[in-house]
Amino acid sequence: MDNRPIGFFDSGLGGLTCIKPLMKRLPEEKIIYFGDTARTPYGSKATSTIKAFSNEIAEFLVSKNVKMIVIACNTVSATCVDELQERFPQIPIVGIIDPAAKCIADTCDGSNNVGIIGTKVTIASGEYKRRIHALNSDVNIYQTPCPAYVPLIEEGIIDNDIMDLTIKYYMDDFVNSNNIDTVVLGCTHYPLIKKNISRLYPDMNIINPSDVIVGTIEKILTERDELASGSKAQNVFYASDLSENFINMIDHIFSNEAEDAKVRFKNFDLEKGE
Ligand code: DGL
Repeated sequence: MDNRPIGFFDSGLGGLTCIKPLMKRLPEEKIIYFGDTARTPYGSKATSTIKAFSNEIAEFLVSKNVKMIVIACNTVSATCVDELQERFPQIPIVGIIDPAAKCIADTCDGSNNVGIIGTKVTIASGEYKRRIHALNSDVNIYQTPCPAYVPLIEEGIIDNDIMDLTIKYYMDDFVNSNNIDTVVLGCTHYPLIKKNISRLYPDMNIINPSDVIVGTIEKILTERDELASGSKAQNVFYASDLSENFINMIDHIFSNEAEDAKVRFKNFDLEKGE
């Protein structure tokens, strides 16, 4: 048993899509979340910049005595998960791509045309394709970047025609010309537009890595005998820019949750501290 918190981070609010399923499955776990809203999006930035930001945040989470770090960001997972693990060997550091790649390799075969959608950095890295094919080379993988989704989602532009048109702009040709039957939401912001994608492509099988990673977290904590027990989770959420818009989006994401599952955010300045 280990009642230390689990640290999560993302460039913004996308990583919260991993938090909801974790709260349901492991309600006794305490969470410390960091959303780097002041510097989002990461997905179009240079790899060296993403690495520098990720190092800072991991250091902050380690200073909070977390028992594990979950990289709730595909862009960071595609860029520097191994480096972070080398730098902080004392705790497990889990990226979101490996669990998703295993799920795809296990559930898809040569009859499937799987489309990975993600940020420019994630898609350019080719990490999804590489890791899926390392486990199952039969699956047909296609990839396309959708860089305008994250800024729209961070702005709360979701349930409307602008988002739908943007989805179609990136996906119509991609889906039709490759006969895509399975789409992988390769950015943790995208589960927030999963309903739009299901409505626009009703027969599409959608794989959501934010749900899949929760099983991996549980497995690792169980193996290490580090599941929390008997503690009422008091989660803490940090954002590097706690804007009004961001707070509105938090309400949107957690709207149907019980009051005690709702999030309370603290503003955190990486240079000045709390
Ligand atoms: N949510 C992130 C991801 O999973 C990054 C989005 C961004 O900052 O571009 O890739």
